[in-house]
Amino acid sequence: MPEKKPGKLNMEKLVSLCQRRGFIFPSSDIYGGLSGCWDYGPVGIELKRNVKEAWWRSIVQERDDMVGMDTSILMNSKVWEASGHVTNFSDPLVECKECHLRWKADDLKENKCPSCGGALTEERMFNTMFKTFIGPVEEDAAVVYLRPETAQGMFVNFQNIVSTSRKRIPFGIAQQGRSFRNEITTGNFIFRSREFEIMEFEYFVKPDTDAKWFDYWVEERLNWYLKLGIKKENLKPYEHPEEKLAHYARSCTDITYNYPHGWSELEGIANRTDFDLKQHAAASGKSMEYFDDENKEHYIPYIVEPSLGVDRAILAFLCDAYEEEPDKDEIRVVFHFHPDIAPIKVAVLPLSRKENLAAFAKDVYKTLRPCFTTQYDDTQSIGRRYRRQDELGTPYCVTIDFQSLEDNMATIRERDSMKQIRVPVAALKDTLLAKLAGEDLFVLPEGGQIWKE
Ligand code: GAP
Repeated sequence: MPEKKPGKLNMEKLVSLCQRRGFIFPSSDIYGGLSGCWDYGPVGIELKRNVKEAWWRSIVQERDDMVGMDTSILMNSKVWEASGHVTNFSDPLVECKECHLRWKADDLKENKCPSCGGALTEERMFNTMFKTFIGPVEEDAAVVYLRPETAQGMFVNFQNIVSTSRKRIPFGIAQQGRSFRNEITTGNFIFRSREFEIMEFEYFVKPDTDAKWFDYWVEERLNWYLKLGIKKENLKPYEHPEEKLAHYARSCTDITYNYPHGWSELEGIANRTDFDLKQHAAASGKSMEYFDDENKEHYIPYIVEPSLGVDRAILAFLCDAYEEEPDKDEIRVVFHFHPDIAPIKVAVLPLSRKENLAAFAKDVYKTLRPCFTTQYDDTQSIGRRYRRQDELGTPYCVTIDFQSLEDNMATIRERDSMKQIRVPVAALKDTLLAKLAGEDLFVLPEGGQIWKE
């Protein structure tokens, strides 16, 4: 039999694995899907919650200079007029004169249709905000937009937060939430969708300190990915040239990731200056000034904004963690997720379904379940169950065998090294907590032993 060789990741493999293992499904799948929309399955939602939780912990909970909020998706349309989105949130659209497919002109390398090679129409600007109507009447006065970013909810609440949170500048407001863009073209799996989640924060600073804070946040944000296990060589900052900046930005650096489809934006860090607060002050007639009581001065703060798509982050974590490894005559597919990101932390696997063993294993499962996302799996052979957990990226499997009934010990198998230790069941929870926090597998609890290398 020809030897199987580990291959490289590509998008088709990833999409198929994500669907097979319950990470991500096409939206409305039984009706043929809906382009640019995706559903997270039982494993995917755990991954998503972990990514959002890791961001929230590092941005909001572990800092004194940040508060969180959750603003509504629908806002007064005047917000989007003042922010410039009604006029400027547009992409250049071209249409193929032959097959009538539409393309975002920015994405095209040549001036012909990528699908059939046909000639293209002139560019026209297409506003990518989704419109809907409040109330039963479909008329202009009732138009509202599905927000294309969460930022505006934070700008318009600036004074509410200053007066209620006691934060002094520099400080930030952070938010995570659904956002919608009527993208001309979607694609590359969850990279560019029409409905997605953003997590971003607005960091308010004194006007002449914006450049310093901008550099600070570029570095902090790069470090966040590295701490969660993304490989350094797959991250690269990209500074936007002036002519490519969004209408609100003075400078912008993207953190780009080496996705299977090439280097692309994962997160954007923008210096939005005082543009947004000034616009809202002018349009609403409400002051957006801040009073610095230490220096007794009034000013409109500048804003540094790191903004990333949750789904793009998930795609980066999936791609970075994916590996195919030779394993005897087979290929082992494994997601080497950082434990904080891993959707399932521990799997409890009884070696057999025999009643006495199952009861013992279920007791173990019940003691672990309140501490971490734990799965119980008693189907198929132990080898296949290990492979399944590898494909889910589960850092530790706990195996219960017949000897466990006699010596009250269980085996912990580490995902990455596939090495095993045997520990007293009473020490399982604390041992797993320590391993998930980064302790070496071979640091053993009392009574523990190295089992198999
Ligand atoms: N408030 C700033 C803002 O919205 P953006 O660069 O337009 O900036 C922020 O979007 C982030 O949202 C991007 O860096 C990207 O990660 C993500 N994003 C943007 N459009 C997206 C889409 N159609 N699908 C998935 N993620 C998207």
